[in-house]
Amino acid sequence: MTTDRDVTDRTSPVCDRICVDLGDRGYEVVIREGLLDHVGEFLAPFKLGPDTVIVTNAVVKRYYGTRVVRSLSAVGLQPTVLALPDGERTKSLRWVAKILNELLRHRYERKAWLVALGGGVIGDLAGFAASVYLRGVPFVQVPTTLVAQVDSSIGGKTGVNHRLGKNLIGTFYQPKLVLIDPGALRTLPPREYRAGLAEVIKYGVITDAEFFEFLERNMDPILKLDPAVLHRVIQTSCAIKAAVVSQDEQEGDRRRILNFGHTVGHALETLGGYRRYKHGEAVAIGMVVAARLAERLGLADATVGTRIRALVERTGLPADLPPRSASALIRAMRQDKKVQDRRIHFVLPDRIGHVLVRPVEEPEIRQVLIATKPGA
Ligand SMILES: NC(=O)c1ccc[n+]([C@@H]2O[C@H](COP(=O)([O-])OP(=O)(O)OC[C@H]3O[C@@H](n4cnc5c(N)ncnc54)[C@H](O)[C@@H]3O)[C@@H](O)[C@H]2O)c1
Ligand SMILES: [Zn+2]
Repeated sequence: MTTDRDVTDRTSPVCDRICVDLGDRGYEVVIREGLLDHVGEFLAPFKLGPDTVIVTNAVVKRYYGTRVVRSLSAVGLQPTVLALPDGERTKSLRWVAKILNELLRHRYERKAWLVALGGGVIGDLAGFAASVYLRGVPFVQVPTTLVAQVDSSIGGKTGVNHRLGKNLIGTFYQPKLVLIDPGALRTLPPREYRAGLAEVIKYGVITDAEFFEFLERNMDPILKLDPAVLHRVIQTSCAIKAAVVSQDEQEGDRRRILNFGHTVGHALETLGGYRRYKHGEAVAIGMVVAARLAERLGLADATVGTRIRALVERTGLPADLPPRSASALIRAMRQDKKVQDRRIHFVLPDRIGHVLVRPVEEPEIRQVLIATKPGA
């Protein structure tokens, strides 16, 4: 498989910055190999600090903690590291309280930085803590998973889980800066990497047919983490997320297109008790189902669903629903917090690069769920 010639053009140093355009809450996303050694240089111009608290987890600290600490010390900042346990269970009010206790114990002031170094769990948790500590302290996202680099670090959604459901407690709070080092993905477990690629495929389907074609042509180098191709993948994904968020910060109509694949995806996660599927895996199946639904409703021709399924499968992501799951899935979808007027809404692709948001009647959903199973 060859890579596109224009890859190098699109990834030249001039386009390693993306603006999230939100007026005085706007910020830059910087994507650069080796950036973990330069975090301090990006913070210094803000003339805040010197106190800087790095919130991370034990795994990420072991890989990257020292590099980030050194870069901060090199510009005169005074970093301390709060390393929390790994895992989604840490995204809880209990750990928010522990972070806040630490911050209060050291009497950190309003100018102290919070640096979120890790995946989406750490980003969501540290962002939430930053938004409530002294009614808000400056915070920086240094995402180290693909999910965090292309999705969760941008857009300002922070929060924690509750016993009654995921992400039920949170704030909208934008970071001052997002610093992405694609090199960090080399230590990421392959399954986590592929889960992140589901969100990347999503961006192609919802707004950018050319990007989707790029993914179709380049899945081999993407899976091998080819630096030039990977840079374009992250850069285009961040640009799409930034554009959608800039148009609609607090989830009005526009931002809902980001939920493509998520109606069924969330239901699958709920049914599997959040253990069976990674979020991206559930979204991958959800995208295939949504495309079939679009076809059934006469909105799209069959090629849309065929191409989405083929790309999902080449990525190594699941495309099929578990057997006999239709009724339970519909029940779970009805309970989702995004259900409006008791109707289940879907983001439906009418072609690659364009989607519509529509309520869909249950019999139609059921038909498609029954048909989207192995061998169907
Ligand atoms: N705020 C948003 O808009 C938004 C969007 C999408 C997802 N999320 C949230 O993000 C979370 C999922 O994020 P995630 O998929 O990044 O999971 P995660 O943060 O749990 O990270 C996945 C695993 O990778 C490890 N890890 C992280 N970086 C690594 C690296 N460079 N090398 C080796 N291992 C590394 C982590 O320790 C963890 O075990 C969920 O809680 C989800 O709700 C939020
Ligand atoms: Zn998602």
